[in-house]
Amino acid sequence: MQTLHVDLGQRSYPIHIGPGLLNRPDLLLPHLSGRQAMVVTNETVGPLYLAPVRALLSDRTLEVVVLPDGERFKTIATTQTIFDQLLNARFGRTATLVAFGGGVVGDITGFAAACYQRGIDFVQIPTTLLAQVDSSVGGKTGVNHPQGKNMIGAFHQPRCVIADTDTLSTLPDRELAAGAAEIIKYGLIDDTAFFEWLEQNIDRLLARDPAALTWAIERACRNKAAVVARDEREQGTRALLNLGHTFGHAIEATTGYESWLHGEAVATGMLMAADLSERLGWLAPEATIRLRNLLQRARLPKSPPAGMSAADFSAKMAIDKKVTDGRLKLILLRGIGQGVISDSFDRTALESTLRHFTGTGP
Ligand code: NAD
Ligand code: GLY
Repeated sequence: MQTLHVDLGQRSYPIHIGPGLLNRPDLLLPHLSGRQAMVVTNETVGPLYLAPVRALLSDRTLEVVVLPDGERFKTIATTQTIFDQLLNARFGRTATLVAFGGGVVGDITGFAAACYQRGIDFVQIPTTLLAQVDSSVGGKTGVNHPQGKNMIGAFHQPRCVIADTDTLSTLPDRELAAGAAEIIKYGLIDDTAFFEWLEQNIDRLLARDPAALTWAIERACRNKAAVVARDEREQGTRALLNLGHTFGHAIEATTGYESWLHGEAVATGMLMAADLSERLGWLAPEATIRLRNLLQRARLPKSPPAGMSAADFSAKMAIDKKVTDGRLKLILLRGIGQGVISDSFDRTALESTLRHFTGTGP
């Protein structure tokens, strides 16, 4: 097992990564301040892995909430069902929520923990690759609004993250690839060596080679922990972690949070960001080609859904959280491993990228 730390003063916490961790009460129990614990999972993960988590918490007053599965259920209404059960069980301020599942369960549960009785503790036990490398770390919690992705939420750090890599054995291939998209993101932003490692090892990673998976999860978490420690509330550099997300969120919202996985939308979004960077003269064409090839090998989508127009993108991108005083900021690239945050790019180049990717421009 590897243990990393997110250094945030009193809100610091460990990230444990490795096999067999669902059988390690010593990792979880020290982070539960009270007797009451509520595991929040979903209808897919629960039947697969709930038994060991129940066993871990057998000496607690335990409640379990099983949510419906899917991004379209990442809503205020679903969060309300957690509040209902917390109140029905008379859980108080020392209760701990345990987010047990992928990023959807993690984001909803963290948000419920941030709000319930003005904030209670929660821990993250992520079971998808995407959640193990990204969403379980850093304290961004929240739900979607029909008009925009993650529009309702709070910063609320978990007390610990326990990433049991054994759980990845049951993850569908498509979900594994979606997680790989967020891994590729770290290489693009500021870790050229990681990107090169991925170019050499993406096949091992997608074949679930345990050593490759563990190494990539650890490297990604190390990257994310460092960014979050520098800029917990995204006043500046943390925005780099949103590479590809403004385009990607537009795809997710336009398709009703149903047909595209988050990681897939981010993959296409990263390629759109690279294309725009290239049109601005900031990125060498070879870099875009390298990214395209890597996405191709990971069997990730490289263009938006058919029928999505440049106007659809513009409408959704206008309500992105990185819009300040009406001005959109984007994460762009000046090289592999050189992400930049910019609100001073040429808007006509953005239009050209949108038209190119929606089949209406060169
Ligand atoms: P997800 O939570 O929908 O999980 C993907 C699918 O895999 C689901 O059907 C789930 O039930 C299933 N699953 C989970 N674990 C499994 C396992 N071990 N075996 C078999 N099936 C399993 O999606 P995700 O990709 O984990 O997360 C995406 C979400 O994370 C999005 O809502 C995105 O916005 C959010 N996110 C948040 C952050 C953050 O910083 N908070 C960062 C990145 C992404
Ligand atoms: N995934 C973006 C962030 O955590 O900041």
